[in-house]
Amino acid sequence: MGLLELYNPSLWVGTSAASSYPPLADRVEVDVAVVGGGITGLTTALLLKQAGATVAVVEADRVASGTTGYTTAKVTSLHGLTYAELIDTQGEDKARQYAQANQAAVGQVAALVDQLGIDCQFEHQPAFTYTTEAARRADIAAEVEAATTLGLPASYTEDTALPYPVEAAVRLEDQAQFHPRRYCLALAGAIPGDGSHVFEMTRARDVEETGGGPVVRAGGGEVVAADVVVATLLPFVDLGGFFSKAHPMMSYAMAVRVHGEVPQGMYLGVDSPTRSVRPVRLDGETGLILGGQSHKVGQGGETGQYYADLEAWGRASFPIRSIDYRWSAHDYVPVDSIPYVGRSPRHQRVHVATGFKKWGMSNGTAAGMILADLLVGRANPWAEVFDATRVDPKGSIKEFVKENLNVGKRFVKDHLARSDSPPAGQLAPGQGGLVNVDGNDVAAYRRPDGSLVAVSAVCTHMGCTVQWNPAETTWDCPCHGSRFDCEGAVLNGPAVADLAPVPVEEQ
Ligand SMILES: Cc1cc2nc3c(=O)[nH]c(=O)nc-3n(C[C@H](O)[C@H](O)[C@H](O)COP(=O)(O)OP(=O)(O)OC[C@H]3O[C@@H](n4cnc5c(N)ncnc54)[C@H](O)[C@@H]3O)c2cc1C
Ligand code: FES
Repeated sequence: MGLLELYNPSLWVGTSAASSYPPLADRVEVDVAVVGGGITGLTTALLLKQAGATVAVVEADRVASGTTGYTTAKVTSLHGLTYAELIDTQGEDKARQYAQANQAAVGQVAALVDQLGIDCQFEHQPAFTYTTEAARRADIAAEVEAATTLGLPASYTEDTALPYPVEAAVRLEDQAQFHPRRYCLALAGAIPGDGSHVFEMTRARDVEETGGGPVVRAGGGEVVAADVVVATLLPFVDLGGFFSKAHPMMSYAMAVRVHGEVPQGMYLGVDSPTRSVRPVRLDGETGLILGGQSHKVGQGGETGQYYADLEAWGRASFPIRSIDYRWSAHDYVPVDSIPYVGRSPRHQRVHVATGFKKWGMSNGTAAGMILADLLVGRANPWAEVFDATRVDPKGSIKEFVKENLNVGKRFVKDHLARSDSPPAGQLAPGQGGLVNVDGNDVAAYRRPDGSLVAVSAVCTHMGCTVQWNPAETTWDCPCHGSRFDCEGAVLNGPAVADLAPVPVEEQ
């Protein structure tokens, strides 16, 4: 199973064309190798090509099939409640860099849509961060003040088009929404030729910085380049402990049709649980994307309940006529709330872009702009705040310790849990579970035809025990977010190897 064939494909995957770039089978030399063909990697590669460099994009699956194919696709610099906190922890200068980078990214997406004539439902919409709790009005007012201080066209309002009462909201004009996969397919299409390439179904296994420059070993070949950009959501090789500085959070979305008019504007509620609303085109009609719910990857338990809760809220809030698509995906949340973009702390010519905290449509585009500037020797005004070599960011130590204690607990808890595993005979068709075979945890899945497939439950990244995700029929790692299909093949990194098959005989 690939990312495009997931149990619950997204609206974007379900309504975009297939791509078929060749796998890497040889040695290729380019100026820049870009590993990862999501919005970040493709933007980086295209901007570099437009600046005169040759590039090779190396994608494990199909382009825009990762989180970019499973997003809600608001393109905005309004990121919930962000700016008051950023001013507090980073100071006004760096907070302004973050705001300007994301505002510029909205403009960059619009410019590429225009330049390449991309048919991707791009349209401007105002963005809102709202609360339904009177007690949180002050948080909204503080965010408006912080955003305007940083130069964003934000205003305070109590008036939105949502059908339920809102106490207060930040409103930011002239933001955008689009169909992210159609947009990315067009970016990918503009890359090959004149010494540049896109390779699909080519998982990179290794990046090595040699005397002659870095080499990416991937699929049946290798890419030798002056510089490498790793844009794989979370780096698949250890470029500087990023797996301990950003943690994987899963969230849920559905595309629905409703009776009557849909509210215009892109909304994010800051109360718990988080709620997201935006209009979308569905087969010529206007529908809505509703999003929300959240848990750490591999720590959600009965994941079907998150879909059920989202649907219950959706039906209570909007006159839903049909639910056409539902999907889930994850992104990485950095401990200090700022993505890591730029040179890797452990390398000279290997660069990273990760930790977009569910705002990668703008942050990933900004990362592409920063990396393209960096690699062609142009100064970039926002590079400092995203600096991937920063150490011990102010205000983040508590978060760092908390997140890594959580990972530590998963190691201990999961290893202790082995003896509680049920016998494989109890698994119904379509069900998976950890079963005990000779004292070892084995990830077992009963196929719809009744046959049993068993693989090692030990994640091939760093050895945590994977957990069954019943809503998606995947094996998800609770430590750093690797995901595997029901038969053990890697879907999402940082793991690069499949779960090892385990022979089991049923009586
Ligand atoms: C439910 C949800 C809703 C969201 N909504 C929004 C939103 O409204 N607005 C917004 O701005 N952001 C949103 N985000 C966040 C945004 O979608 C992500 O930040 C963004 O898509 C990340 O893009 P990327 O290119 O960095 O990663 P990806 O899109 O994940 O791309 C990485 C690529 O790398 C490939 N890869 C991985 N390992 C390897 C390897 N070893 N070799 C080769 N290739 C590899 C993967 O197959 C993948 O295609 C949302 C996220 C979620 C989960
Ligand atoms: S993702 Fe790191 S141990 Fe599984």
